[in-house]
Amino acid sequence: MKGGHLLTLLFGLAIWGTGGAGAANGAVVGAVGGAEDAATLQADIAAGEYMARAADCSACHTMPGGRPFAGGMVFRLPMGTIRASNITPDPKAGIGGYSEAEFARAVRQGVRRDGATLYPAMPYPSYAHMTDADVHALYVYFMKGVAPVAVPVAANDIVWPLSMRWPLVGWRMLFAPSGARAGQGGTDPQLARGAYLVEGPGHCGACHTPRGVAMQEKALTAADGPLYLSGGSAVDGWNPVSLRGEAREGLGRWSEEDIVAFLQTGRVTHAAAFGGMTDAIRHGTQHLTADDLHAIAHYLKSLSPAQPLARAWRYDATAGHSLHDGNLSARGARAYVDNCAACHRTDGRGYPTTFPPLAGNPVVMDASATSLIRIVLTGSVLRATRQAPSAFVMPGFAARMDDRAVADVVSFIRQSWGNEASPVSTAQVAEVRRSISGDGDAPPAHQPLN
Ligand code: HEC
Ligand code: HEC
Ligand code: HEC
Repeated sequence: MKGGHLLTLLFGLAIWGTGGAGAANGAVVGAVGGAEDAATLQADIAAGEYMARAADCSACHTMPGGRPFAGGMVFRLPMGTIRASNITPDPKAGIGGYSEAEFARAVRQGVRRDGATLYPAMPYPSYAHMTDADVHALYVYFMKGVAPVAVPVAANDIVWPLSMRWPLVGWRMLFAPSGARAGQGGTDPQLARGAYLVEGPGHCGACHTPRGVAMQEKALTAADGPLYLSGGSAVDGWNPVSLRGEAREGLGRWSEEDIVAFLQTGRVTHAAAFGGMTDAIRHGTQHLTADDLHAIAHYLKSLSPAQPLARAWRYDATAGHSLHDGNLSARGARAYVDNCAACHRTDGRGYPTTFPPLAGNPVVMDASATSLIRIVLTGSVLRATRQAPSAFVMPGFAARMDDRAVADVVSFIRQSWGNEASPVSTAQVAEVRRSISGDGDAPPAHQPLN
């Protein structure tokens, strides 16, 4: 949609002042305490805690090492930074004053208690799909199952007039759905559950779906067509890949079991989790039941490839044999042997679930090489999860490799072992290096090798 910013702005202007007028989505179920007996309350708290995990609320609302849901996480937007709210039940610093209807409206429609529209860093276009029952359980959990924290979140530093929230009203009216549509799996209940979890609370599309000029997700459900989950844009140098059925850069070669294992442990034969996916697993998917993870996997495997004509990946032994024979004439081959092969091996097969393979890895074959450049520059930690308690470290090479060397080694892994992806230029490396320098969250660039 061309001119989306302008349209958003004008639309916002036209309905200036009506931000607080929208009614809460759907009926409001029950009330907390009072009418509910203790057993119902406990059941709701447990259901709400589970939903908070399925919806990853803590990934944004809990700072690393901070009190649960006390907020403060910083989001950088083009016009300044905003911070995730304190959503503990403290009446002043948190959301203790929210009624259930107000809470439902904030979570599903992005309207704050005072009527202001929330920045869509809070993924309400996906949460719009959540059922009344799940939102009710969430409300009970946040009011009765979470400890209040009286520390207010620091103010957003966006200067006036950009700090005015009214243009967001137009954005919300245009791009955030107002009625539940997810979970339309026809007659297959497992498919319906998977669609609900992915399109609704899981908000997988917030990262994995491409965004348009106004930063809106170009598709919000599978019914919107093959752009849905076809790969999103990079955040902090990590690009979310396609979750559809492409044979190379999607999940075409993954089994349902592979997907379940990845969401539980972050590591499978094909790949290991990094970037934003680490948080999605740590705060969210590793806590889900096996039934729910199978439903998610079943649903993802039902998505047709976005590019159906892509050739399947087939292992090619040439590069491995050359390296093995000491032939380092290919661009980047020497850098690969010197810096990478100890863990990822000359045959590119790695040591799956410890050091991921680079041969046939969808991330390595993705059209965008951004993540690959970023991981070589900064390194990454494959974190422990409940079911995979060991962590493995990839060192960062930013201090040891210049842009040319990084471009060469990344081009090498993209073009060896049958991967056949496009090479990268020094300009691309320089751009990623710039975008992450001064990034306080990045792992140290000069981690020693051992
Ligand atoms: C991807 C990050 C992200 C996730 C996930 C997320 N939030 Fe938020 N949330 C935010 C941000 C950022 C804000 C502040 C937005 C603003 O100031 O406009 C916010 C604001 C809110 C508010 C408004 C509170 C207030 O009065 O300021 C509520 C309520 C809320 N979130 C609840 C939730 C719940 C419940 C979940 C899980 C179901 C959740 N959020 C998941 C980022 C997130
Ligand atoms: C905060 C952003 C973010 C969210 C939310 C997110 N992902 Fe991801 N995901 C990523 C990134 C970045 C990658 C690429 C790195 C990697 O493979 O771990 C990825 C990779 C994956 C992969 C591995 C694909 C491959 O080819 O290696 C799977 C499977 C996956 N995500 C599933 C999901 C599901 C299911 C959800 C929703 C429950 C989800 N993701 C939510 C950022 C995200
Ligand atoms: C000490 C062992 C080690 C060395 C040396 C190493 N890596 Fe890694 N590599 C890892 C680990 C562990 C991961 C998983 C990190 C994660 O999941 O967060 C990884 C992940 C990757 C990934 C992402 C694949 C995926 O699915 O997660 C790429 C690409 C990669 N390495 C390329 C390289 C390149 C290129 C070099 C040399 C410049 C290199 N690595 C050197 C251990 C290593």
